[in-house]
Amino acid sequence: MVAFRRGVKIAIIGLGQVGASTAFAIMASGIASELVLIDINREKAEGEAMDLGDAAAFTKPINVYEGTYADCQGAQIVIFTAGANQKPGETRLDLMEKNVTILKQAMPQLVKYCEKSILIMVTNPVDVLTYIALKTSELPPNQVFGSGTVLDTSRFKAALAQHCQVDPRNVHTYIVGEHGDSEVALWSSANIAGVSLDDFFQLRGLAPLNREQLAEQVKTAAYEIIQRKGATYYAVALSIKRICEAVLRDENSILTVSGLVKGSYGIEDCCLSLPCIVNGLGRAETVVLPLSVEEEDALRRSAKLLKDIIKQAGF
Ligand code: 2OP
Repeated sequence: MVAFRRGVKIAIIGLGQVGASTAFAIMASGIASELVLIDINREKAEGEAMDLGDAAAFTKPINVYEGTYADCQGAQIVIFTAGANQKPGETRLDLMEKNVTILKQAMPQLVKYCEKSILIMVTNPVDVLTYIALKTSELPPNQVFGSGTVLDTSRFKAALAQHCQVDPRNVHTYIVGEHGDSEVALWSSANIAGVSLDDFFQLRGLAPLNREQLAEQVKTAAYEIIQRKGATYYAVALSIKRICEAVLRDENSILTVSGLVKGSYGIEDCCLSLPCIVNGLGRAETVVLPLSVEEEDALRRSAKLLKDIIKQAGF
């Protein structure tokens, strides 16, 4: 009788700080049994694989190795983190030209070897790159999506949790739109364990919140970190790990990943983040939340900005 053998293979393309931290997060979590690290600097990827491999006695069994695009074959998930990251003062959109070129070079290989994989785009500007990956690969929109505002949503929850002195996992709210300067904080549906924010503040005797200031703090968090340490990578790595987990465990988790919007809120043919059901199919379905008039206007402005940028990129 043939032995039953099946594992979980994840490939990471781009072993900069985000790619390497993601590899570490995946390795530590035990969600994969095979992890392929791919970078144009093969020596760097090999070094990362060797470093992670040394921890074999402390994690669940995993085969971590340096590879090529051909090794993506059979991967349930391929994570794309290749490209330049922001320098202090740069916006995510400033990275467009460099990173679109890198993606275009990678695309034929991705299409060849990742036809059956879920492709998670992380490189910034993530919404623009997700759109280009989707259009050039011609893969279905559930299969190709971006990490989007999953991280911003976590930042928003963490800031609210701190103000409310409550576990961030009991904070329910989202950041939608662009992963960037035009992102939108959804205050109208925000709640703590089903209790509206204002009622919760009253219940706990907390001071009212300066909403504008808090949303600004969330929006500019990456700039503040980049100013201090040159890059952000740990929190985004854990966001990617969280998305992978939702896919691999078929969780039906609601996460604000970036993907193709086809008509929701009057937005057409643009990639941005909305709360989506993430499961074994990938970005399976959008959850269309009721928004306030201001939130909906801001979301449409974010979509318009992204569509203009996509056009500039020639798509
Ligand atoms: C972040 O939000 C820079 O997109 C990266 O941390």
